[in-house]
Amino acid sequence: MKIAVLAGDGIGPEIVAQATRVLQALASDGLKIELEAAPFGGAGYDAHGDPLPPSTLRLAQQADAVLCGAVGGPKYDALPRPQRPEQGILRIRRELGLFANLRPAVLFPELVGASTLKPEVVSGLDILIVRELTGDIYFGEPRGRRSNARGEREGYDTMLYAESEIRRIVEVGFQTALKRGRKLCSVDKENVLETSRFWREVAGDIGKKYPQVELTHMYVDNAAMQLVRNPRHFDVIVTGNMFGDILSDEASMLTGSIGMLPSASLDARGKGLYEPVHGSAPDIAGRNLANPLATILSSAMLLRYTFNRDEWAYRIETAVKKVLSEGYRTADIFEPGTRKVGTSEMGDAVVAAL
Ligand code: IPM
Ligand code: MG
Repeated sequence: MKIAVLAGDGIGPEIVAQATRVLQALASDGLKIELEAAPFGGAGYDAHGDPLPPSTLRLAQQADAVLCGAVGGPKYDALPRPQRPEQGILRIRRELGLFANLRPAVLFPELVGASTLKPEVVSGLDILIVRELTGDIYFGEPRGRRSNARGEREGYDTMLYAESEIRRIVEVGFQTALKRGRKLCSVDKENVLETSRFWREVAGDIGKKYPQVELTHMYVDNAAMQLVRNPRHFDVIVTGNMFGDILSDEASMLTGSIGMLPSASLDARGKGLYEPVHGSAPDIAGRNLANPLATILSSAMLLRYTFNRDEWAYRIETAVKKVLSEGYRTADIFEPGTRKVGTSEMGDAVVAAL
């Protein structure tokens, strides 16, 4: 099993280092993996003038799975758009056909106090957001700048979904709901957008194949409200690229820290890119402060979804639960009475718990 390791920028290298230690600890226990690193994002630009250098793309294409850290930083903010680190992530998603983005928001009981919401609202929270990742207004054409009839400048993008794109992501939503609480909420803006009217129609059509799953539809503004009002009402949410981007950041905060949340981006055959939901946090980069748990949990998702090794994934997740119950906390989830540790000490603790 070959894993391409794209650490990226900011805290990326620190947190990925801890996740690869965890994978290597399993390797010494019999898990057969081979890791190969390549520059990506700002680091790709620094090395080859391209946030997704051809050699990095080739490695990602050849590998069975990709483990990513995070990309971006102030150093790259002034670059023209094609060289920006974010373009690296958008292009790799597109090039590898990673249309299904799974973003779980699970609250560990030990962290109930770290959430900004009341314990009675969030305890037991276990939501999965299934976000479409290669379509929508992110990629729709035409887009750009122009002058309108009055000679005024305008910027424009195109929200667009083909039926096949909606079908395959909604199928993923139903399939994952089947393995969980059998509730699927499809989120759209059907009261305003044509794209959403079509989305809702196609989703409803697929729903006929899944009588075992309760399908509901919700407007995105209401979904944003329900996520903070009564988040446990949700089981699986399926939605488009843009709405999923926003709702997944919101959902992450329910769990106390965005530093805890892993994600998987899958193609049609289960090949995947695994990365924490959070960004590159340039403000704390290189200071051994970042929480590596989201990346470590992403490596667990990698073992589960690409390699079908549920038992190894479970070992990592159990080790993370154990270090939390032992009181280890990075700064983002620290509360008085727990043990504040740095990035590498958190990695030490997880490896020890394994
Ligand atoms: C995410 C990020 C990306 C996105 C950015 C970095 C392009 O916010 O993965 O959620 O918008 O998809
Ligand atoms: Mg985002």
